[in-house]
Amino acid sequence: MQMSHGSKAVIAEISAGLLSPAAHTSPKFLYDGLGSKLFEAICELPEYYPTRTEASIFAAHGAAMARAIGDGSVLIDLGAGNCAKAASLFPLLRPAQYVPVDISRDFLVGAVAQLQQRFPQIEMTALGLDFSNGFALPDSVRAGRRVFFYPGSSIGNFSPAQAVDFLRGLRANAGADGGLLIGVDLIKDHTVLDAAYDDALGVTAAFNLNMLRHLNYLIGSDFDVEQWKHVAFFEAEHGRIEMHLEARRALTVRWPGGERRFERGERIHTEDSYKYTRQSFVSLLERAGFATNHVWTDADNWFAVIHARVI
Ligand code: AVJ
Repeated sequence: MQMSHGSKAVIAEISAGLLSPAAHTSPKFLYDGLGSKLFEAICELPEYYPTRTEASIFAAHGAAMARAIGDGSVLIDLGAGNCAKAASLFPLLRPAQYVPVDISRDFLVGAVAQLQQRFPQIEMTALGLDFSNGFALPDSVRAGRRVFFYPGSSIGNFSPAQAVDFLRGLRANAGADGGLLIGVDLIKDHTVLDAAYDDALGVTAAFNLNMLRHLNYLIGSDFDVEQWKHVAFFEAEHGRIEMHLEARRALTVRWPGGERRFERGERIHTEDSYKYTRQSFVSLLERAGFATNHVWTDADNWFAVIHARVI
């Protein structure tokens, strides 16, 4: 048996998902060191339009966004990573405080140190926390006009019901004059959607399959990557991309404390990426207690950046 390196809670979560009749895992396990690099590579793919399209919207409408938001805000960047998206808006947005939030605080600290040199007038407070299950902000985050920044259509990993709960949590932390600047991927031609999650080079396939290596590390399982196949498609009924890993033949996966037999063709559901229409997302925001102030899109209406205010 291999060693497991995950916490008890992580091992319990993964085992429960693998043992459930319809096997599934959380997309957060796509991101180990290699997974994060593969995601960066995905963002460079010609088929993966979201990153590029969102960047073009920021480039075209950054000044209008800054006017809508106003300067001197407390900008809270959810899933900040290398902080590059927010930093490109600093000259226009001129926040009083910048609060990057990410699971890995170590990663943030390096990025923030560099940014602080370029923008000495902005107070920077890096927070290492997992905000996906709700959170409370520490006192180091100023009580001023708080604006949550949630780009990249990361909201798509939540189901619509979970997204409403998550946004309600933001609203509770935002204060009466708070707001939200969020990137949302829009429903479009299904061939465009399918290709974005099943690219010709196989980078997304590698990204998905890499989860099995990560699971082996976390729970000590013996997944053999070669026995599995990447499957991704737009599922119109739920309005979401589904990613799965499909067993190429009947096999059994074993780990300390568990095992699971998979028939040939049986799948592990690894990710959902929900897509919205402009109207459906505006109404979701409303259910969460946010009033849409402005929607910016690209010429093809493939992606939207929305500014909303606490109601
Ligand atoms: C990081 C969740 C926004 O859903 O498009 C990319 C992840 N998965 N290709 C997305 C992802 C496969 C991405 N998000």
